[in-house]
Amino acid sequence: MTIIEQPVAIDGDKLQKFVLRAVDEVGATLNAALVVMGDKLGLYRVLRDAGPLAPADLAARTRTAERYVREWLNAQAAGGYVSYDPDSGRYTLPPEQAVALTEEDSPAYLPGFFQIAIGSVLDSPHITDAARTGAGFGWHQHGPDVFEGCERFLHPGYLANLITGWLPSLDGVIGKLQRGALVADVGCGHGSATVLMATEFQNSNFFGSDYHNASIATARERASRAGVGDRVQFEVTPAAGYGGTGYDLVTMFDCLHDMGDPAGVARHVRGSLKEDGTWMIVEPNAGDRVEENLNPVGRAYYGFSTLLCTPASLAQNVGLALGAQAGEARIRQVVEAAGFTRFRRAAETPFNLVFEARP
Ligand SMILES: C[S@@+](CC[C@H](N)C(=O)[O-])C[C@H]1O[C@@H](n2cnc3c(N)ncnc32)[C@H](O)[C@@H]1O
Repeated sequence: MTIIEQPVAIDGDKLQKFVLRAVDEVGATLNAALVVMGDKLGLYRVLRDAGPLAPADLAARTRTAERYVREWLNAQAAGGYVSYDPDSGRYTLPPEQAVALTEEDSPAYLPGFFQIAIGSVLDSPHITDAARTGAGFGWHQHGPDVFEGCERFLHPGYLANLITGWLPSLDGVIGKLQRGALVADVGCGHGSATVLMATEFQNSNFFGSDYHNASIATARERASRAGVGDRVQFEVTPAAGYGGTGYDLVTMFDCLHDMGDPAGVARHVRGSLKEDGTWMIVEPNAGDRVEENLNPVGRAYYGFSTLLCTPASLAQNVGLALGAQAGEARIRQVVEAAGFTRFRRAAETPFNLVFEARP
């Protein structure tokens, strides 16, 4: 019997639309490098302070080469990051873009987001190889743009939400912190949230830990620069083995899903907390079902999850690989399996879910 295969009908308009959208995305991919370039060379900051500027003026003020700056400006203008006045040949950084591209403490600040994206993309050949075998690629194996970009990406969100929104959403925690509490910030990275909490709650003592040596070295510098070094101690240790017991509060910011054995870590947290203590888990915002996350935030996080979080977890013992879009139901399972009897979503922002777990 002969089987005659019917050709699949191609809708020419749909194909053209998809290709045109992809052209925009290629521009956006390259723009990620251009944003990091503009940030590192100070181009946005000078344009903000001295604009409108011609390419030669911007180059002179940033001690960079005019020919590169001119090309960079044109790419920025084509993407709507700067505006261009053909009559004067000068370029302006509009006020909203100035906030998003130069104000490090603004919740709208973007260069850190781009920096961690570029760092992830630069390391992606390792992930392509790992995907052939299922091997992991540890957080510590990445380049500096991942660590620094991560800190600069997450910090503005902590600044905007942690002290005034997330901690007050937890039952009784603010009072304890004000009176004097013992706090462990686990998987603390550069210690961005640890230092913020220590600065705010001067009667409390903080214990930051992370398995990544270089991150802890940076965290110590950050604490000392903020003048809280006397109340913050840091230790290089995996989350399943951090020291001390009797904690009033254990915090984990954007790291539980990166860990190989979050269930084992949850048991360790349970054993380290006071009976009326609290575990605060901050995770990327995600719905429980894939289809709930098929949106721009989900796209970015599934991207980071493929290139950073999933390989990081697979590189560790157990390798559960929750992924950055695990969702509330999956986190609840991990937490309750460790013996926590109370679990609730305490707060939420477009980028994060904040969970409260109690013994
Ligand atoms: C996305 S970063 C978040 C860092 C920090 N909490 C913050 O919010 O800036 C994830 C962190 O988890 C740490 N990490 C991953 N697995 C770990 C483990 N098993 N034990 C301790 N830290 C771990 C990484 O080294 C990294 O610093």
